[in-house]
Amino acid sequence: MIKINENYKKLKASYLFSDIAKRVADYSRENPNAEIIRLGIGDVTRALPPVCIEALHRAVDEMGRDSSFMGYGPEQGYAFLREKIAQNDFQTRGVDVAPDEIFISDGAKCDTGNIQELFSQDIKIAVPDPVYPVYVDTNVMAGRTGENINGRYENLLYLESNEENGFVPSPPEERVDLIYLCFPNNPTGATSTKEQLKEWVDYARENDSLILFDAAYVSFIRDESLPHSIYEIEGAREVAMEFRSFSKNAGFTGTRCAFTVVPKECRAFDSNGNVAELHPLWLRRQTTKFNGVSYPVQRAAEAIYSEEGKKQVGELTDFYLENAKIIIETMTGLGYSCTGGVNSPYIWVNVRTESWAAFDSMLNKSAVVCTPGTGFGNCGDGYIRISAFNSRENVITAMERIDKAF
Ligand code: MLT
Repeated sequence: MIKINENYKKLKASYLFSDIAKRVADYSRENPNAEIIRLGIGDVTRALPPVCIEALHRAVDEMGRDSSFMGYGPEQGYAFLREKIAQNDFQTRGVDVAPDEIFISDGAKCDTGNIQELFSQDIKIAVPDPVYPVYVDTNVMAGRTGENINGRYENLLYLESNEENGFVPSPPEERVDLIYLCFPNNPTGATSTKEQLKEWVDYARENDSLILFDAAYVSFIRDESLPHSIYEIEGAREVAMEFRSFSKNAGFTGTRCAFTVVPKECRAFDSNGNVAELHPLWLRRQTTKFNGVSYPVQRAAEAIYSEEGKKQVGELTDFYLENAKIIIETMTGLGYSCTGGVNSPYIWVNVRTESWAAFDSMLNKSAVVCTPGTGFGNCGDGYIRISAFNSRENVITAMERIDKAF
């Protein structure tokens, strides 16, 4: 008898964004003429930067000639892209990351989901609450949690993020092995200071723990005093991996390219307590299970690092930040307090009511889709997340409708 992985039964029935899609589909069926504006899932709406399109065209032409055709690429990614990343995203900021510590991938979601394979089944894991659901669900699938009781899985430590701590949790009293952090944060849009990140790095060093630092939204940081990488914190190379993405800065959600940094010193421990380097383990995992990102896509990602590319990406992220400003102005004007939207494309709104009720009310009264805070964890109740990823026209229309309806 073929048996399933019973851990899947512990998962909530579906992924948050599928639940939302279902409610929106129901609403659309009942209101066929409604012009729905989606500010729910954080999916970009603007075209790829022209430098990426030009690079794609060139690379496709290369693929069309025997003399320049490329077959399987290196699983870790082409050197031309890894060198540009190391230099532009890290070294120019004084951060010590080498090209061979960078692993090109098809997404930060995939990498943050797959990375848990490297660790033992019996580790103690801490996740923020609210949290990007991927960190939790992939550990549930792997069998590291118990059942979901009242919205929380047994065996996970939830780090409560709320208005009191500015949505930046401090390290816990107890020791944990693995910590997921994300700044600028999805879903709250909160950012952490160097001092706050240092507390975490110190904690990880003192407790032999490891930090998984998701920096997918780093390109929205405009406050130069904020850390752009966890490796700006002394001692982080031993205790942290960092995840980045081209999805939100250069609009690659449908094109797929991202990367993970695993410094050579980054370590975990084997069952005898001996140091085990994580770089060779992740390399082994990737060479076995992944065949790399396509050559044209890596060329498109490389183009982002040209002078023209940097300018175009800056314009794209500025555009979404301007949307975020419009959203904050409307929501605060209606008396709601907001977090994020500055240095982040997400606005976390305290709606002072149950968050699915707020979601339904916004959909029914204004045909605008947001994301209910409870979808990200118990601490998300009373909040909704509004995404700034849409056209200017749609954001303005959505805000006018909300302004009228509430
Ligand atoms: C979100 O809406 O939270 C994003 O789409 C997450 C992601 O990029 O996977």
